[in-house]
Amino acid sequence: MSAPVHTNASLKPFNTFGIDAIAKYFTEIKSVDDYRRLLGDKKLSSEKKLILGGGSNILLTQNYDGLVIHNCIPGIEVVSETENFVIVKANAGVVWHHLVLWAIERNYGGIENLSLIPGFVGAAPMQNIGAYGVEIKDVFQELEAINVHTGELQIFNLTDCEFGYRESVFKSKYKGQFLIASVTFRFAKLNSPAALSNYRFKTDYGDIKETLGQMQAFDLSVKAVSDSVIKIRSAKLPDPQKIGNAGSFFKNPVINKEQYESLVAQYPVMPSYPQNDGTIKVPAGWLIEQCGFKGKIVGNTGAHATQALVLVNYGHATGHEIWQLAITIQQTVKEKFGIDISPEVNVV
Ligand code: EPU
Repeated sequence: MSAPVHTNASLKPFNTFGIDAIAKYFTEIKSVDDYRRLLGDKKLSSEKKLILGGGSNILLTQNYDGLVIHNCIPGIEVVSETENFVIVKANAGVVWHHLVLWAIERNYGGIENLSLIPGFVGAAPMQNIGAYGVEIKDVFQELEAINVHTGELQIFNLTDCEFGYRESVFKSKYKGQFLIASVTFRFAKLNSPAALSNYRFKTDYGDIKETLGQMQAFDLSVKAVSDSVIKIRSAKLPDPQKIGNAGSFFKNPVINKEQYESLVAQYPVMPSYPQNDGTIKVPAGWLIEQCGFKGKIVGNTGAHATQALVLVNYGHATGHEIWQLAITIQQTVKEKFGIDISPEVNVV
């Protein structure tokens, strides 16, 4: 049986910014067929539609004059396995961190660096979630998506998704056109000492090595790496249960060599990450901090005190108010550094 359709529903519990926007219609789906039934409903099928997973990467700047669909399709299953690898299919409504814990319990390697990222599995490929040197594309096998207009299921492989830094076709050319139903991953089986010694843990990024040392975790394991990532994230990033936020608000901008050279001459301590194509990625958090926004409270919102890239809701912010702050930050960064920073979150 399908879930009820609510009218004039508050979306506050369904977005981690905690914005109290109202949806004209709201319902939940637990299967592909639930979605097809919605399409069969004359009144609802003609409404514009917004698909929500964990609501952890969205800023609602206004009420939603259409149908909001909470994509809660549950379940994780092993599709196949060989001696060294396992293919796992997780449905869109699985909480991302639950999948990480599920993999760690079984000693499956691949997503331990992506521990504690908020949100559901279905949203993970949308923006190719990444942290601490790993992106979902590194373990991605394929996904099933439903065409929102026809209800047909379509398979997307790695190439089809066109993954980039916090990008995929679902965020660009197919925006709003597909509902991701499941994602299939390839994990390394690390249950034998031989498999463990062949596996390359990614511990080079940021403070992972140092944190593993502090934790006296001298034997690397998926659990140890996950625990260190959880420790780093918990220290830096505000918990959305306590203080509304959607993680990084902006993407880290990429600049060309000439611009980098002129900036670094002025700001020798500016952190930078050279890319394979000769461009240079600069951390937006640093740029925002240099503009004086770190920890600054503006009305009901502000840039967080331990990570300026995270905009927060101190309790009663509207989405519009947060968006206004985001625009002010963009303009200030542009004036000071000549760099355009663009949102990473989906602004609706
Ligand atoms: N920095 C500052 N001030 C700040 C924040 C950062 O100077 O307020 C500097 C740091 O000192 C460091 C550099 O910026 O030199 C990078 O900082 P950090 O390692 O915290 O990572 P980030 O580039 O700010 C990205 C992701 C995060 C992810 C981390 C770790 C983006 C947009 N964000 O942040 O992802 O957790 O790397 O891999 O790429 C998210 O997407 O929601 C998210 C939290």
